[in-house]
Amino acid sequence: MGFHTFDPAKIDRLEDPSRFRFCSREELLGALPTGPATRILEVGSGSGFYTDEVAPFVGQVCGVDLQPAMHGRYAERGVPANVALVTAGADVLPFPDGTFDGSFSTMTFHESASESSLDELARVIDGGGRVVFVDWSRAGRGESGPPVEERYDAESAAAMLSDAGFDIVTARERSETFKLVGER
Ligand SMILES: C[S@@+](CC[C@H](N)C(=O)[O-])C[C@H]1O[C@@H](n2cnc3c(N)ncnc32)[C@H](O)[C@@H]1O
Repeated sequence: MGFHTFDPAKIDRLEDPSRFRFCSREELLGALPTGPATRILEVGSGSGFYTDEVAPFVGQVCGVDLQPAMHGRYAERGVPANVALVTAGADVLPFPDGTFDGSFSTMTFHESASESSLDELARVIDGGGRVVFVDWSRAGRGESGPPVEERYDAESAAAMLSDAGFDIVTARERSETFKLVGER
């Protein structure tokens, strides 16, 4: 696995609307398959901040998180009917091969990424499916987010995703985050 796991005691920080400065709904939807038949996996769904943004535009979202406390906060706020929450680690996903048409993961790659978790992602994404990652970059300024030494940059994250069998569609640095899109 990656670096330290997000502290649930700081969960309020995940619901701050200023986070859209670093990743918007529109850029996630622009890179994901959408429509009423689409099955989307979210890795590290946290309190559901971005899940709520994506769910209205897809068929189903399955939000996976390692920490039950994160799902608990989301449940208190109210989980949309087309969202299922599953407590699991990214390296052991409890789904059959090819279950999903796409996936997204925000501000989590630095915590969850490993050879086994990306192999597992490749297993559960159907052929042609898109996976989208936005995370704090090691090339960022460190003005916000985790310490830069606990981050990956776009190039190293893309190399890991490529090794897991994805074609790289986008691997781009921004001011503080990277965006990485792969196709199965
Ligand atoms: C920084 S939070 C981001 C949450 C959410 N993606 C967001 O942007 O609001 C990272 C989340 O990833 C989860 N996480 C960390 N490592 C994980 C792993 N190996 N498998 C599944 N979830 C993991 C943490 O429990 C936490 O909820």
